[in-house]
Amino acid sequence: MLLVKDLRDSYIEFFKSKQHRHIHSSSLVPKDDPTLLFTTAGMVQFKPMFAGTIPLEYTRATSIQKCLRTSDLENVGRTKRHCTFFEMLGNFSFGDYFKKEAIEYAWEYSTVVLRLPKDRIWVSVFENDDEAFNIWNKTVGVPAERIVRLGKADNFWGPAGDSGACGPCSELYIDKGPQLGCGKPDCKPGCDCERYMEYWNIVFNQYFQDTDGRQTPLPQTGIDTGMGLERLATIVQDVESIFQTNELKQLVDFVCRELNVKYEGNNIPAVNAMVEHARSLTFAMTDGAYPSNEGRGYVLRRILRRALRFGRMLGMKEPFVYRMVDEVVAIYGSYYPEIVSSAKNVKNVLEGEERRFLETLEKGIDRLDEIFAALSKNGSGKISGHDAFLLYDTYGFPAEMTSEMAMEKGFSVDMEEFSAEMEKQRERGKQSWKGADNAFESAMTELAKIGSGTVFTGYAETETAATVAALSDGRQVIDALKEGMKGYVVLDKTAFYAESGGQSGDTGEIVFGDGAVFVVEDTKKSSKTFVHHGYVKKGTIRKNEPVSARIDIVRRSLIKGNHSATHLLQAALRQVLGDHVKQAGSFVDADRLRFDFSHFEAMSVEQIDRVEQIVNTKIWENLAVSAKEMKIEEALKTGAMAEFGEKYGEVVRVVSMGEFSREFCGGTHVDNTGKIGVFKILKESSPGAGMRRIEGVTLKGVADRYSSLESIVSALAAEFNAPEKDIVARIKDLAAENKSLQKEIQKAKSANLASNLDTMIAEAEEIAGIKIIAQTFDGASADDLRVLADTVRNKVQSSVVIFASSCDGKASLLVAATRPAVDKGADAGAVIKKIAPIVGGGGGGRKDLAQAGGKDPSKMKDAVAEGVTVFKGIIK
Ligand code: GLY
Repeated sequence: MLLVKDLRDSYIEFFKSKQHRHIHSSSLVPKDDPTLLFTTAGMVQFKPMFAGTIPLEYTRATSIQKCLRTSDLENVGRTKRHCTFFEMLGNFSFGDYFKKEAIEYAWEYSTVVLRLPKDRIWVSVFENDDEAFNIWNKTVGVPAERIVRLGKADNFWGPAGDSGACGPCSELYIDKGPQLGCGKPDCKPGCDCERYMEYWNIVFNQYFQDTDGRQTPLPQTGIDTGMGLERLATIVQDVESIFQTNELKQLVDFVCRELNVKYEGNNIPAVNAMVEHARSLTFAMTDGAYPSNEGRGYVLRRILRRALRFGRMLGMKEPFVYRMVDEVVAIYGSYYPEIVSSAKNVKNVLEGEERRFLETLEKGIDRLDEIFAALSKNGSGKISGHDAFLLYDTYGFPAEMTSEMAMEKGFSVDMEEFSAEMEKQRERGKQSWKGADNAFESAMTELAKIGSGTVFTGYAETETAATVAALSDGRQVIDALKEGMKGYVVLDKTAFYAESGGQSGDTGEIVFGDGAVFVVEDTKKSSKTFVHHGYVKKGTIRKNEPVSARIDIVRRSLIKGNHSATHLLQAALRQVLGDHVKQAGSFVDADRLRFDFSHFEAMSVEQIDRVEQIVNTKIWENLAVSAKEMKIEEALKTGAMAEFGEKYGEVVRVVSMGEFSREFCGGTHVDNTGKIGVFKILKESSPGAGMRRIEGVTLKGVADRYSSLESIVSALAAEFNAPEKDIVARIKDLAAENKSLQKEIQKAKSANLASNLDTMIAEAEEIAGIKIIAQTFDGASADDLRVLADTVRNKVQSSVVIFASSCDGKASLLVAATRPAVDKGADAGAVIKKIAPIVGGGGGGRKDLAQAGGKDPSKMKDAVAEGVTVFKGIIK
């Protein structure tokens, strides 16, 4: 039997033999495409190559891409073929071969390499695509009755995300036999039943669709194919469902064994869903997405919560999905090494997430059962959006999960109303990862189109002789920019580093032969074109003119120090915390550095100190720093660290610092770690689940920090009249002195209040043998009132105290009753409830003691008077 791993190898080998370059899977979190939450197809990493916005290094590629799609989430587990995570086998042509070869390759791989029975393969083509029909029919020899023409919904693919390449497609199906069919006489590919399973989609990319849905012809046609590995394995291994293919089956067996359940009946969808979801979560979290309430994090939360609900059906009470991670790693780790090193972190985060949700899952299900019961009674079939929102808000039930559970009972959810309730939260979610400056973006795109890529000279030079390739004023591409105008400049070569990999763009000046000067305030890039962003300080600048591009050397050197420090920091963190530490993001500019990494708990003070010491030692060891370009396979073999979610080309740059650190990095660095000077961590915090953030400084940042602390210390020394070394002791003395003075004041205040006590008691009214001591005070705190009330209660056996005081602009009320008074019916709590609103407050308490606060001390006399009346009412 061909195993799943054999399929991976045979597919790649086949397309390599057809001159395709094997490209590694990109991250599940697309780096450069804000329109996509997750990588949904093999073509995603090639979008710019299809669109023709970057120069092509090769025109044929093949890959096995990690993909995640949630459009069918509610089907996962219930059907034999749906997944959220899957591996997509793909072959791609960028302006190289087109329909004929693509179809022939698919046929050859299916029938010659895999030896699938020809008479069980069906194909579909786009309704009016006679060309594809004829290739299948005449060139390949598929009989016309097994070629189906389908409409746009089935046979037009793309784009992935809001814009990109798309086109008509042709799909290959396998006939799994009439026993799985719906029995309808016209059942054929396109039918919803399980008989014809689509396994390969060949997209003939012809159009570019923009964000408004407009389609224009691509500069060159292309081929994009996608074949789900899991589905292919089902066919080749002749099993009924993807969950019986050899790799997923191993996970199914694990769940059945550990939860002690049989793979039968209603258990099957539940086990399937858990298996599938555990695998998705492991891969997605490895690539840097974590469960949260927004965007992709929320997708993961939905997946996990769905898994837990199914787990509960199997009798699971304790967190379990995290225990499946090791099993996923055992199966997939050799092909996807990234999941091995992240496993510890993934497990930790998952376990915490599971535990939190399991706390509310049971209660939420009870609540939902009540809702179902009520719906059955009143005959309504729909859960209101409001109820669905409360389930979400109180018990963490994603609406889709509520809807799926409702569906199982024959109900639905008013999703529109739910969405309205959620709108605000959603908006926030969207904004946090969309929203670039539009004018700037479009200028960048325009400039990128005409530039054919900028040569970056800034690793070696700080000043470069270049020529102006293009100019823009932010609205359109123009030939000249006048003095005072803001705009964007593209050069053929530049020493300016464009913001990327967390390193901020360079600033400086572009000086023209005639003395005109363009001040560069920032540098960014759009694919391979570097765009200088700034304004004309002097003269008029023109296209095609020779210039000298000079970066701000001091700023660059500070950036280099910070950037190199993040590399030492990553290596030190791995030494102190473990190999699961991986960079999840970073930012360096001249003033500071920020480094985000995967780790599951706050670092201790000792760990922070150790990391800082290691980094400083490595700085002072004066390690040589070198950068080398190499093929990605070679680079991976050196153990160089790659960043989460980052997409790399075939050739990568590896930056090494002695033997201590080796990372993929395109940034600029010091040539010797000694030039970092000194490193200081300022803060350790968490930017999100499973992630920690370190903020720190080097060089000037340290000097600035030192100066600012020094001025604080000098000010303190002057203020407390003590030399630096004695300041702390002096402050401690003063604090102790302050505390004892407070005590004295308290004592004096109590004595003062108590001095009037006897008169108060003597003058108090008496009802039914209970003395009512009612009084207002100025400046007595709630604590003062309590002390005083205790004194009264000790002195007068059967008494009720009703006190009010104004203190710091607020009112305090206290009502207390002695035991004998309570026995006679006094109730302090009842009184306070009535009188607290008079001073604009609320409160309650026991029968013997009740306190309240209020905003309006001017009404405290009224409150006390009312208290007396209420009390009299109770006692009579
Ligand atoms: N890009 C082709 C597919 O996803 O099917």
